[in-house]
Amino acid sequence: MLDPRRLYPEGTESRALAEVLALAFRDNPLNRAVIGGSEARRLRANRAGMRASLIAALPAAVVLIAPEGRGAHDQSVLGGLIAMEPGQWPLSPPPWGEQIRLLMGQGWRTARRWGEVFEVLRESHPVEPHCYLSLVGIRPDHQGRGYGAGLVAHWLEGVDRQGCAAYLETDRPELLAFYGRFGFAQAGSTKLFGIPIWRLWRPAR
Ligand SMILES: CC(C)(COP(=O)(O)OP(=O)(O)OC[C@H]1O[C@@H](n2cnc3c(N)ncnc32)[C@H](O)[C@@H]1OP(=O)(O)O)[C@@H](O)C(=O)NCCC(=O)NCCS
Repeated sequence: MLDPRRLYPEGTESRALAEVLALAFRDNPLNRAVIGGSEARRLRANRAGMRASLIAALPAAVVLIAPEGRGAHDQSVLGGLIAMEPGQWPLSPPPWGEQIRLLMGQGWRTARRWGEVFEVLRESHPVEPHCYLSLVGIRPDHQGRGYGAGLVAHWLEGVDRQGCAAYLETDRPELLAFYGRFGFAQAGSTKLFGIPIWRLWRPAR
């Protein structure tokens, strides 16, 4: 049974979440296309990217975790979700020191290619007010057990309480049905580094 918690400060749990998200996205089509190379290389680049994303997100965004245990001090994490409320996107970049660490962790080529991805996604980002699901990922050895659906459902409860529309992008065609069950419908698609990306919209309820 999932009992999501909201994650606040930078600490052990956020490092654990960065690790889990790095692993969750390691084999996604866009990750393979942008970073390329071995699993170890993609994991290394993702660690740097997820760490920087969390540092940028934690002061403002919604960061939910699926904790492994039930104890309040349990710091192991099965997965997590990063989302933004209306007007919060795009987040301010992380501090300079963190950006340098990101560049060193990802490598210049990968950092530049992710920059191109975010630029294209930024151009098609909806202008209507909405809540934005930036990332959701579950540790691969725990996928398919309902944790991802639990996090998305928990996030959407908050979205609906605000009467907010919702938006996300995905590079996995098999997730169109997953998000469709939550009321998301296709709002267009684009190709990035040869990989189709679907944009999904859920009207306010
Ligand atoms: C997408 C993700 C968060 C879903 O979390 P999860 O805990 O694995 O999913 P759930 O167990 O809640 O699955 C819910 C449903 O989606 C389906 N599903 C999830 N991932 C799937 C996949 N890769 N292929 C096919 N079906 C999938 C499940 O079969 C399940 O369907 P069912 O309810 O009919 O059995 C997780 O698989 C993940 O981390 N994927 C890699 C990162 C990613 O792509 N994140 C989403 C980016 S938008």
